[in-house]
Amino acid sequence: MKKIIFATGNQGKMKEIREILADLDAEVLSLKDAGIQADIVEDGTSFEENAQIKAREICKMTGEIVLADDSGLEIDYLNKEPGIYSARYMGEDTSYRIKNANLIERLEGVPDEQRTARFVCAVAAAFPDGTVKTVRGTMEGRIGYEERGENGFGYDPIFYLPEYGCTSAQLSMEEKNKISHRGKALRAIKDELR
Ligand code: IMP
Repeated sequence: MKKIIFATGNQGKMKEIREILADLDAEVLSLKDAGIQADIVEDGTSFEENAQIKAREICKMTGEIVLADDSGLEIDYLNKEPGIYSARYMGEDTSYRIKNANLIERLEGVPDEQRTARFVCAVAAAFPDGTVKTVRGTMEGRIGYEERGENGFGYDPIFYLPEYGCTSAQLSMEEKNKISHRGKALRAIKDELR
């Protein structure tokens, strides 16, 4: 069976990733499963570059096929902030309650039609022969006026999906996977792996 390493230490993401890649005839390992400890500097200037840096580095270290992702939230009114700095916005250890409240405050008085935003996920696949393939998935929505919902993580409680009438934190994991940036990118990269 083919072996694929997914360069993440996040167990929540691994669960989502295994579910989406289940029909590939491959064993999907996390960095921990593969016994790899790596501290990679994500100094790219786009989601794609950051995903490529991680995938390429771990592929060089292991000689296996490696997938890596990089994701974040782009708010149009804030010139696409927090973007590639989504995890580090206001500090890595700051709670999302505080980050979300801050973003809502920065949009005070901004009308619905100018609150557009999207989640972006780039996934890169690095192959032992040196080739790298990269795909992008997005989920469009709007920044809400208050936090809503208990599911998901990060910015989900303020990410309102007009066509569903709820935030992405009010969707089940299965519902979110079907429409999410990460779900779309993972299904696209799957086609590159077949
Ligand atoms: P990454 O692990 O470097 O890709 O960090 C992505 C960051 O973007 C996360 O820490 C979250 O702040 C945010 N993010 C990405 N995807 C989602 C999502 O599906 N829901 C909520 N926040 C997300």
